[in-house]
Amino acid sequence: MRLLHIVATPRGHESNTIRISNALIEELHLKYDDLTVKVLDLFKADLPAVAGENIESKYKLMTGQELDNHHKSSWDAIEANIKRFLDADIYLITVPMWNFGIPYALKYYIDAIVQPGYLFRYNELGIPEGLIEGKKMVVVTSRGGDYSPNTPLHALDFVEPYLRAIFNFVGIRDIHFINAQPMDISPAARRAAMLKAIDEARALVADNHLNGYEPIESVEFPKGVKPAPLEAYSQD
Ligand SMILES: Cc1cc2nc3c(=O)[nH]c(=O)nc-3n(C[C@H](O)[C@H](O)[C@H](O)COP(=O)(O)O)c2cc1C
Repeated sequence: MRLLHIVATPRGHESNTIRISNALIEELHLKYDDLTVKVLDLFKADLPAVAGENIESKYKLMTGQELDNHHKSSWDAIEANIKRFLDADIYLITVPMWNFGIPYALKYYIDAIVQPGYLFRYNELGIPEGLIEGKKMVVVTSRGGDYSPNTPLHALDFVEPYLRAIFNFVGIRDIHFINAQPMDISPAARRAAMLKAIDEARALVADNHLNGYEPIESVEFPKGVKPAPLEAYSQD
């Protein structure tokens, strides 16, 4: 079982969210002998720009054009990041709420890897289809306030709905959230929220929720059919 741990907090050992994720990883190690964990620390990662040549390349690919060698060399860094993402059976994302949404480092990463022909495609009817199959994801979040269902802040939680939307879009359907909250209203409330979230993490592993992923042999892409050729867009 290959787990990619995507860390989207800059707080390292001080992080509330990482402590919960670490409990989950410990439990996974006890249960799965073959577990390997790779960590992608997004606040330290040197991610390729989604600008300049790479943004041109994205639109070339989206409209069915080949990349020339000049664009390809810059695009290689995007491909390397997509490869690293796809080279996992399950994902763990560790992410605090920042201003009701996700920290910019995670958004930047998502913008870099969610590329046409790699993670999604438009089918013949123009409907987007995710190209990832059989993978599972656990998202551990923490928040200063309480955004649980039936609380006044619930509608302001853009972390869970957004991450569900984007990872469903690329084909990851099995996503489990552990939301630790409220973390910042008092030490007692934080402690209770941490313990509850750690219990949830352990129960998730104990209940075999992470069994049944589909291991992949190797990563090959671009996957799927090519996007529509450029002429298809010229009538607009
Ligand atoms: C830049 C920034 C923005 C934040 N925005 C929110 C917010 O909108 N709502 C909230 O409840 N907490 C907010 N918080 C508090 C964090 O979500 C909370 O402290 C969380 O537990 C931090 O997790 P970490 O220790 O893993 O980084 C924010 C914290 C930071 C640093």
